Amino acid sequence: MPQPLIADYPLRAHNTFGFDVRARFAMRLESEAQVAALANDGRIANLPQLVLGGGSNVVLTRDFDGVALLVGILGKRLIAQDDDAYFVEAGAGENWHDFVAWTLAVGMPGLENLALIPGTVGAAPIQNIGAYGLEMGERFERLRAIELATGEAHEFDREACAFGYRDSFFKRAGRGRFLITSVVFRLPKAWTPRADYADVARALENSGKHDAQAIFDAVVAVRRAKLPDWKVLGNAGSFFKNPVVGAEAFDALRAREPEVVSYRQPDGSAKLAAGWLIDRCGWKGRAIGGAAVHDRQALVLVNRGGATGAQVLELADAIRRDVFEHFGVQLEAEPVCL
Ligand code: EPU
Repeated sequence: MPQPLIADYPLRAHNTFGFDVRARFAMRLESEAQVAALANDGRIANLPQLVLGGGSNVVLTRDFDGVALLVGILGKRLIAQDDDAYFVEAGAGENWHDFVAWTLAVGMPGLENLALIPGTVGAAPIQNIGAYGLEMGERFERLRAIELATGEAHEFDREACAFGYRDSFFKRAGRGRFLITSVVFRLPKAWTPRADYADVARALENSGKHDAQAIFDAVVAVRRAKLPDWKVLGNAGSFFKNPVVGAEAFDALRAREPEVVSYRQPDGSAKLAAGWLIDRCGWKGRAIGGAAVHDRQALVLVNRGGATGAQVLELADAIRRDVFEHFGVQLEAEPVCL
C-alpha cells in the first residue's frame, strides 16, 4: 500500500519560522521502505520534492508546487559497543533535543553541548549542527540515505559526508538528491567535558556541578536566555554563518574596529562573529513588516507575526548589503532558502 498523498497541505506547522505556505501535496514517510518506494510512485513522478524534517533550517518563501516529504521515521537504540565507545542509532524523524536527552538518560553522554537545537536527527548531518564547542560531525559514525531518483539505499561514513562548518555533502553535490533515513553516532565511553565556551562555563560555575547533565542544563539555560523559542517567536536559528576572512583583511578590519569579535583559525585567517557585525551596524530590533532582527541576538531573524519568507529575505539582503558596506565582509545565509 503506497502512502496516502495529501492534497493542498498547510506547511505552517512544518517550518519553525511559521510561514503560512502550502504544498500542492504532502506525504508522510515512516519507514525506509516507504522512502525507497517513492522512486516508483507514478503519482509523484514529475513533481518537485521537498524533504522536511523539523523545518528548522529552511525559509519557505512561497507555496510549494510539488510534494513535501514529511520524514517521520522513528526509533532509537544502542546497536553496538566496543572498548572505547557506544554506537547509537536513531531514526531521521526523531526530535533532536529529545534524542540528546535520551542519550544522557541511558548513560551515554557526549552530545550534551547540542541540547535544545531545534529540528530532527535526520537534518542534523545536513548542516553539521554545532554549538558551544561541539559539532555533530565529531560524534558521527555513519548514516543511511535513500537516493530519491532510484530508491537505492546508500551508507555514508564521515568522510563521504564531507562535514565542514555548518556544511556537508548534502548541502553541496548531494543537495536534493538523498533522503536521510537514520544516523549512527559514536559516543566515547571516556567522557570529557566541553566547557570552554564562556557562557556555559559561567552557568556551570554557578551550578557547582560539572557532569554531562550539568553541561546539558547549562546549555539549555544559555540558549533560553539568548535565542528565541520558535514556538513563541518563529525563527531558524542563526540566519548567517560566521564569515571567515583572510589574515590581511582581518588585520585591516581590526585596525579600524578593535572590538571586533573573532576567532583565529590555525591558518591565520579569522572567523568573525556575524552577530557582532550586524549588531554594530545597528540592526538589533529593526524590522521589515513582521520580519525582524531579534533584540537579544542580531544573528537571528524572527517572525514577529504575519511575516512572509519574502520579507525575511528582504531584511536579510538589507543586512548583507549594510555589513558589506561597513566592513567589506560578505555574509552567507545559513538556512536553505526556497
Ligand atoms: N554578539 C554581539 N551582538 C549580537 C550577537 C552576538 O555583539 O547581537 C557577539 C557576542 O557578544 C559574542 C559573539 O558575538 O561575543 C558571538 O555570539 P554568540 O556567542 O551568541 O555566538 P554566535 O557566533 O553568534 C554561534 C552559532 C550558534 C551557536 C553559538 C554557540 C553560527 C552561525 N552560530 O553563534 O548556532 O549556538 O555560536 O556556539 O555559527 C545556529 O547555527 O543556528 C546557531 C544558533
